[in-house]
Amino acid sequence: MVIAIDGPAGAGKSTVARGVAEALGFTYLDSGSMYRSTALAALRAGLDPADGEAVTDLARGLEIAVDGGTILLGGVDVSGDIRTPAVTEAASKVSAHPGVRESMVERQRAMIDAGDYVAEGRDIGTVVSPDSPLKVFLVASDSERARRRAAQTGEPFEVVLAAQRERDRRDRERKHGALRSADDAVEVDTTGLEVADVVSRVAEMARARGIAAP
Ligand code: C5P
Repeated sequence: MVIAIDGPAGAGKSTVARGVAEALGFTYLDSGSMYRSTALAALRAGLDPADGEAVTDLARGLEIAVDGGTILLGGVDVSGDIRTPAVTEAASKVSAHPGVRESMVERQRAMIDAGDYVAEGRDIGTVVSPDSPLKVFLVASDSERARRRAAQTGEPFEVVLAAQRERDRRDRERKHGALRSADDAVEVDTTGLEVADVVSRVAEMARARGIAAP
């Protein structure tokens, strides 16, 4: 079973999903880290991230293990390597290929079926688990999201903002697994909100729906 936390980059998904998982005793799943690992593997193999056929073939054969914030690619910890701007850019491209999405979604469903998860991504509530009993769609203003990302990576705000707009566009316009709120998702705007408030609001919704113990 999964609580789905979707939304655009920088809306606060990771921090909120981690916090909710901890509050409820569920396992945290960062689905973006799987697309990032695929991108890293593609770059290391010298593939063009836009080459759907080659990247899909590669993705299908990858050994990806996610454990909380740690991600292993072929048994090696790549948790830090997948956060560089080059990988972020490539992840946005590899995640548009239907075959890559199919492979990642299949793995995510297998994990979710085996336990209680709080999963964050773009398509958890719409594609990975349309039956999720609690779907949250986090949003925040463009400038707030870019400011948060710039603080994390140390890149200039304007550079982050421009790259973010381009990735948002790709996420929203792609044919498969496009970023959108599920019809039955609860939309929460995190602009100006404290993380702790958002976490307790979502945890409270889960308790109220009988998904987690009171
Ligand atoms: O969330 P994060 O920025 O780490 O995601 C990395 C990339 O993976 C994003 O560009 C996004 O397009 C893609 N992604 C996706 N589907 C998900 C999670 C992430 O396409 N469920």
